[in-house]
Amino acid sequence: MRVTISQIKEMKQKGEKIAMLTAYDYSTAKLIDEAGIPLILVGDSLGNVVLGYESTITVTMEEMLHHTKTVVRGTKQAMVIGDLPFMTYHISVADALHNAARFLQEAGAQAVKLEGGVAVSEKVSRIVECGIPVMGHIGLTPQSINQLGGYKVQGRTPETALKLLKDAQALEEAGAFAVVLETVPSQLATLITQKLGIPTIGIGAGIGCDGQVQVIHDILGLSDRVPKHAKQYAKLTDIISNAVAEYYNEVKAGTFPTDKQSFSMDESILAELPQQS
Ligand code: KIV
Repeated sequence: MRVTISQIKEMKQKGEKIAMLTAYDYSTAKLIDEAGIPLILVGDSLGNVVLGYESTITVTMEEMLHHTKTVVRGTKQAMVIGDLPFMTYHISVADALHNAARFLQEAGAQAVKLEGGVAVSEKVSRIVECGIPVMGHIGLTPQSINQLGGYKVQGRTPETALKLLKDAQALEEAGAFAVVLETVPSQLATLITQKLGIPTIGIGAGIGCDGQVQVIHDILGLSDRVPKHAKQYAKLTDIISNAVAEYYNEVKAGTFPTDKQSFSMDESILAELPQQS
């Protein structure tokens, strides 16, 4: 049985911290699932860390669905959340419903995430009314990077702080089961967390949030650069580079494969084969 939105909401009530990680493929998702992490986000950060795009803006529905399917296949207990890409929920409620439903029907996800607060609250409430759990996402919303003018901390002025609080409350009223707070001052994130009945999941929003989310590449040391909000728990780039270099050297030197990695056959069958070309 997979984690449900009621269990996630209960965790806030009980004061239990909620861990969430991104995943984009079967084998990584399987490891995260086996570790017991309750929430797995197939984020549109897919564009940055897997597809090599400059931003998340060019990520398509088809790419998201493809990767969400692989994550779903690798998981048993975690709730898999599909990230609605740029412009797939902005144009109309019908569009938002159609694309959110695709994550559940075609990819097998259990919930969707979308960026924005008051501006998308009508869409959130219609998606929720149709039985699709929605996670909100406010603060630094990478799909609006051109509007925001860069990857900057959000909510440092009285106006922007109040706007974020209202956005968070609008998402709760619209029926979102949780809300991501990205790159928001810790004090503001704590205040929003206290004001909301639903869990806040922070990324660069401090310890006062109900939970934390990180991009798996950042914590494993697979990213080109480590964002300030991330902690590297491993440095897989070094491990992979060393392994690849060793393999390359052994192939060139003729020391790989050895008998251990090879298969043999009955010598009498070999003897029956024409020996000369
Ligand atoms: O796309 C993503 O990975 C995200 C998280 C950073 C919250 O939206």
